[in-house]
Formats: sequence, C-alpha cells, structure tokens
Amino acid sequence: MKTLYIRMGTLLFCLAAYALHEARSAEAAEVTVVGFSQVGAESDWRQANTQSMRKAFSEAKGYKLIIKDAQQRQSRQLAAIHGFVDQKVGFIVVAPVTEDGWDEALQKAKEANIPVIIVDRKIKARSEDLYTCWVGSDFRKEGDEAVAWMEKNLKADKDLFIVHLQGSMGSSAQIGRTEALLAGEGRNPAWRVVARDSGAFTQAKGKEAMERILKQHTRIDVLYCENDDMALGAMEAMDEAGRSYGVKGDVAVISFDATRAGLTATLQGKINYNVECNPLHGPRVEEIVRRLKKGEVQEKYFYVPEAAFDAAFFTQSELDAREY
Ligand code: AHR
Repeated sequence: MKTLYIRMGTLLFCLAAYALHEARSAEAAEVTVVGFSQVGAESDWRQANTQSMRKAFSEAKGYKLIIKDAQQRQSRQLAAIHGFVDQKVGFIVVAPVTEDGWDEALQKAKEANIPVIIVDRKIKARSEDLYTCWVGSDFRKEGDEAVAWMEKNLKADKDLFIVHLQGSMGSSAQIGRTEALLAGEGRNPAWRVVARDSGAFTQAKGKEAMERILKQHTRIDVLYCENDDMALGAMEAMDEAGRSYGVKGDVAVISFDATRAGLTATLQGKINYNVECNPLHGPRVEEIVRRLKKGEVQEKYFYVPEAAFDAAFFTQSELDAREY
C-alpha cells in the first residue's frame, strides 16, 4: 500500500511539473518580439519617442522590445533590420534617418514575411508594398503652419532678414519644414533668407551654426529653426553674443517640436511660435501590431494629431497638462 502511495505521489508530481512546463511554454510562446531601429538620441523629441515605444511595448503587455540605436547612421539601421530578420522577430519598426536607400533591407523582411511599420519620417521605397504602414507627422503641414504665423504676425514694411537652421539633411522633417519656408519666400518678396545652415537637430550643432551666423550678420529679424534643441542652442549663442530675441527682442524665434524645454522657452517669451511634432507614436504602433496579429487590414498612412503654440497666448496650465 505504502509503495502504491509513493508511486501515485510521484505520478502526481510529474503531472504537475509537466503542466507547469506546458503553461510556461505557452506563456513564452505568447511573447511578441518587436525589433525597433531608432535613429538615435539627438533631441528631446527623439527621447520622448523612444520612451513612448518602450511604454507601449512593455513586458507586462506581452512584448519583448529590442531597440537598436543607430546613432544617426543609416548603415546601422540597415544592419539592424537584417539582424531582426535573422532573429526572426515578429514585427519590425523603423524610424528612418533619411528617406532613400531602404529597398534591399525591406525586401529581405518582406521575403521573411515580417511586417515592417515605418514611424516618424517617411521613406521613398521602390514599392509601397515593401512596408506594411507608416505612422508619423505631416512635416510640410507643420512648416506651413509656422510660415502662416510669420505671414500674419511679422508683416514687414521693409525686408525681413531670416536665418534658417535646418535639421538633419535628407530627413523628411527637414525636407517638409524647409519646403514650407521656401514656398513662403516665393510668396513674400520682402523675405530674405540671409543664412541657411544645418544644426542636425542637436543643441550643440545648433549653437555652433548660430555662432558662425552671428559673426557674419549684424541684422537678423527672424530665426526659423527646425527643432527646439537647435533653437535652445541658438539662443545660447545669441545670449553669449548679446543679441536679444523672442517676443520682446530683435530676433523672432520660430521653432518646431513643442517639447517641454521648447514650450518652457515659449512660455518665457523666448520662442515666439512653436509648432508641435508629436512623438507619442507608441500606442498607435502597438494597436497596429495587435490588429495585424488578428489578421485585420491596416490603413497605410496615419498622421498623428498636432497643435501649435503662440507665446502670446500660451499658459502655464497648458504646459502642465502636456504629456511629454
Ligand atoms: O523626425 C522628427 C524630428 O527628429 C524632430 O523634429 C527632431 O527633433 C528629431 O530629432
């Protein structure tokens, strides 16, 4: 009898261990692996974007998010995509540094049947079938918003001397915002872009570019700056050079992103007009992944909602209510 009890006990133990093993395997099988090739960490915007993805693709929600930081280099992004395919991830998300040069890597993902979601900037692919969908900003619309504000608020009876600080050359964010200013120049004969330089979307390079420009130009009426980080750098340069700017100064500052630091400067009247670039892509991309897993058809392009902030009306409570 005793032997029988021992045998039954052993059997029950084995069954329990087997059940636990099965449950763990099922749990492991449910983890969705997502490979995310991020541009880098050049700006506050970019960090908010990475954070939004981390939050949306948390372990608690059943994801394993592998983030590869490309440090602004497309070659690193291409290597990351190849690596994700070799690892057989479930989904690939790419925030592309530039628009061109993605065909071969995307073809490899397509052949492996791995859906690719492009976020933030757009790409120019040989065929739109090479990626599943895109989520991001309408950068030309952002630029048009800024230029419309300039046309309404900076009416000049004489020429308007404009300095244009551009972002990373070849990125959709730079292309769209630059196109808008060029169109504004075309419509307004009094507008003269006296200097144009790239600060690669970073505060340090924005400052360096503005230092060079300030040495060459004694009169500047407007700084059209393609992101907040560069605007903050340019403001440092203007402070050091003893130039006044913002609502009460000589140089009107137009900026993009509306990050917390950028909007704090807007509240202080240092930036006259700040056009939002919404970095909170995570929830939308996660929703797309869930839908794709259920086999639902996904709309190809999704533009995130964005606002714009005029220093004349922006309030502390609006700043306090911001998510990033
Ligand atoms: O592509 C979005 C742009 O990239 C943001 O405006 C800029 O701050 C970032 O680095």
